[in-house]
Amino acid sequence: MYKQIGVITGGGDAPGLNAVIRAIVRTAVGEFGMKVVGIEDSFEGLLGETRTMKLTTRGVSGLLPRGGTILGTRNSGDFCKFVDGKVIYPENTILEAIENLKKLEIEALVVIGGDGTLAIAQEFFRRGFPIIGVPKTIDNDLAATELTFGFMTAIDIATEALDRLHTTAASHDRVMILEVMGRHTGWIALHSGLAGSADIILIPEMPFSFETMAQKVHAREKSGSRFTNIVVAEGAREIGKSEIYQDFGNTQTAPRLGGIGDYVREKIQEMTGKEARCVVLGHLQRGGSPNAFDRMLATSFGACAVRALSGGESGKMVALQANNIVTVPLSEAIENIKTVAEDGQLVRTARDIGISFAVPKKTKL
Ligand code: F6P
Repeated sequence: MYKQIGVITGGGDAPGLNAVIRAIVRTAVGEFGMKVVGIEDSFEGLLGETRTMKLTTRGVSGLLPRGGTILGTRNSGDFCKFVDGKVIYPENTILEAIENLKKLEIEALVVIGGDGTLAIAQEFFRRGFPIIGVPKTIDNDLAATELTFGFMTAIDIATEALDRLHTTAASHDRVMILEVMGRHTGWIALHSGLAGSADIILIPEMPFSFETMAQKVHAREKSGSRFTNIVVAEGAREIGKSEIYQDFGNTQTAPRLGGIGDYVREKIQEMTGKEARCVVLGHLQRGGSPNAFDRMLATSFGACAVRALSGGESGKMVALQANNIVTVPLSEAIENIKTVAEDGQLVRTARDIGISFAVPKKTKL
């Protein structure tokens, strides 16, 4: 049994991070009699003059509904570098951090993050340091877990945005485009598109055609619906073209997607002659309080992570599978991202009720 464990939050923030921290502390202290130290600003807090905070049951009181992370987070820094399209984890940096963990008398770590953060965690595990990962991201793109916490809250926010765009689109007979996050996957666009009654959903897994999109707008017009709502994932792309980036990053930072919404607005306005407007939902999807589902999932993940550590598990991630919280090898979670299947149930449902993905029908040979 460990006397003292550490907690790290890494990558982009997501609603529910504080709820996980609270569950970790309550379980570690209350159930297993361990002490908990929070590492500040992701793994960066383990370099040089280390930055940590003692976490007590009293100290985490009131954290369940609070957005962001009390520990701070980073999605770039010294632990990974981008060289010629490859990610490198500098050996010296990892070794310095492990040395500092020893000095701080932290015997094991719970690392809360997405694929990037968990890939760094795996490097600690490879060097013998005990680690358990907790899957976080609004994108829901982590393999080996059916859901990540933060995702359901992001869906609520995107759905509300679509509801609001609906009434203004209908009043002005316009085409309204909502650009949502999701990196290279369309989970947020697909779920919020269904829940928020989008007419067209554009996702990276299904490259789109402007002709097919314009046909849908015209068909709606003919049937008396003179407005169209489109939700587009930031990673979506036109057939034969690549994604649109806001910036291409450098050795310190990963490329950042963004701009597809405005591109779609311009083209669809030109092709249909209808007025079009674009809204980029951006970081509103990540800020603020987690919804009830994410509070429950985050709490279950946090408690299960501590239970797994104290049971001697390491190099694992807690995951939701068939309504149970289980542990899976970290390597499984970071190997590939989880993408939307073109023949998946939600895509089928969307098509059944007349939502278009702006994918041209395959011509029969
Ligand atoms: O991975 C979460 C996420 O919000 C993505 O959906 C988005 O592409 C990215 O992070 C944005 O990152 P940043 O916080 O650097 O703008």
